[in-house]
Amino acid sequence: MLRLEGVNVHYGATRVLWDVAMEVGAGEIVAIMGPNGSGKSTVLKAAMGLKKPSSGVVSLDNEELQNKSATLRPKRGMSIVLERRRLFPRMSVEENVMLGAYTRKPSEARETFRWVLDLLPEIKPHLNATAGKLSGGQQQMVAIARGLMANPRVLLMDEPFLGLSPAMVKTVCSIMQMINERGVAILFNEQNAKLSFSMSHRGYLLESGRVVLSGSGEEMLDHPEVRRVYLGIRETAA
Ligand SMILES: Nc1ncnc2c1ncn2[C@@H]1O[C@H](COP(=O)(O)OP(=O)(O)O)[C@@H](O)[C@H]1O
Ligand SMILES: [Mg+2]
Repeated sequence: MLRLEGVNVHYGATRVLWDVAMEVGAGEIVAIMGPNGSGKSTVLKAAMGLKKPSSGVVSLDNEELQNKSATLRPKRGMSIVLERRRLFPRMSVEENVMLGAYTRKPSEARETFRWVLDLLPEIKPHLNATAGKLSGGQQQMVAIARGLMANPRVLLMDEPFLGLSPAMVKTVCSIMQMINERGVAILFNEQNAKLSFSMSHRGYLLESGRVVLSGSGEEMLDHPEVRRVYLGIRETAA
């Protein structure tokens, strides 16, 4: 459904993405793994229309979006949870969550709000609290809730596990799986290879702005290059 073809992105004169091709099918969880600065966030921004590619195609269900305004994406079923959550710290949790519904009719938004609270009951007791007062994990849930308020078919998530405790990583991971089981496709990025590929149907390895490897989550975990460079596993000679 979501497809990137030959996407090139420049910041000024610096080229940071080179002919990136990626695909997210309906109902898939897809990981973009790569070291810091490899272009993971830029891929998500280009997909979401937050950074305009210098060339290439971004399409959703075969509709080309790369030249359309970023505000069309939520209407077509795309939503993004930005890195470091980007909440409005002085606003309440409920206000932050409701911001995710800005393109929708109030009646529909209220229905989605109930669905989102069912899925993320942890935020219910904090709805009136100031967002900035919550823990990192709680803030990530609020950010996810806000992303879901657009009722997306594809949810993009930029480093959803950044700065979370191991227990909270597990919680967010199972929330992502739950969201996916409700039929929402997820494209997320993450620097940890094991975490990325063990929880995704498919994955891409990005290095210096190029897709250098792709495959099923299992294939990625088993790949000698991924094992050697990113999992630190030395193959012993047979
Ligand atoms: N706003 C920007 N202006 C200039 N260069 C940028 C900007 N954002 C990112 N970059 C550069 O683009 C490259 C890819 O960045 P990014 O997509 O954030 O990587 P990642 O998310 O994998 O860490 C990096 O070299 C980074 O320095
Ligand atoms: Mg990033």
